Amino acid sequence: MQDIAAILAKGLDAIAAVSDLKSIEAIRVEYLGKSGHITQLLKTLGSLSPEERPKFGQIINDAKETFTLQLQSRKEALEAASLSQALLAEQIDVTLPGRGMERGKCHPVNKTLARIQEWFLRLGFSIEEGPEIEEDFYNFAALNIPPHHPARAMHDTFYFPDGRLLRTHTSPVQIRAMHGKEPPFRMIACGAVYRYDFDVTHTPMFHQVEGLWVDENIHFGHLKGILENFLQALFERDLTIRFRPSYFPFTEPSAEVDIQCVACAGKGCRICSQTGWLEVLGCGMVHPNVLENCKIDSERYTGFAFGMGVERLTLLRYAINDLRLFFENDLRFLEQF
Ligand code: DAH
Repeated sequence: MQDIAAILAKGLDAIAAVSDLKSIEAIRVEYLGKSGHITQLLKTLGSLSPEERPKFGQIINDAKETFTLQLQSRKEALEAASLSQALLAEQIDVTLPGRGMERGKCHPVNKTLARIQEWFLRLGFSIEEGPEIEEDFYNFAALNIPPHHPARAMHDTFYFPDGRLLRTHTSPVQIRAMHGKEPPFRMIACGAVYRYDFDVTHTPMFHQVEGLWVDENIHFGHLKGILENFLQALFERDLTIRFRPSYFPFTEPSAEVDIQCVACAGKGCRICSQTGWLEVLGCGMVHPNVLENCKIDSERYTGFAFGMGVERLTLLRYAINDLRLFFENDLRFLEQF
């Protein structure tokens, strides 16, 4: 009897003293486990006489029940305490400011493209399209660049085994827009072009905008007027512009257009290689052969054409020093526009 009372008292003391869930489990094992104190007491019943057995059995079971209830309620109290402690620690402060959402932005090249298109659309130009996988006829032959013409060497063309190619410029869209149709044509074409070239100023893919105006009595004055106004609008300043004689197989006469360097205002700097000028596009009067290749009467109709690189214009407008930045998708760069 004394043993039972002493064991129970000691067990209850231990429960009262415990302060964490791990220790309470240890106490359960110590008293109720396979060789626990209370379990041991129950095992001694076998050695008692049949008369004594029920009485002691009752007493031990009562002690076991008291112990178990006490253990359970202590365990629940500790669990509740640990839960409320966890809730307190994980509390969310709803008054904290949010992390904010990243805002998508238009790529600088697309931005320039959109501004170019807008300007020409206002003048009544249409927007034409052509495929990026092109046939020799449209990319070269019809543009007055026959096989073995030296101009082909300047194009660094990607060819497919079947003779087709990745268009090296947007000029083939001129042919697609004109072939077998009646003038007038007043169009621009925009899109990706491909050349086998990769360094600080060249990427294997870049974008061009092509322009074409064919009608009766179109002359070089129209070309000059349109391009001067266009470049002033694009760069949003009073630019000095010069037309420098040049050569393209598909135009005659041909010119390259330079703007006064936007970085040094013509004084000469690293960007313009000390010349004070920056080349921005190629242009000219459409070669009669090109019109005839499109089955258009070159005695009756004349026209002008021009082509420009969108990355290059964007680079100059925003004073960017490496063309490759446009293609790396580095948000630190793109976010500045
Ligand atoms: N296609 C030429 C190039 O990629 C650019 C060009 C020059 C286009 C003169 C034209 C033009 O339409 O008239 O270098």
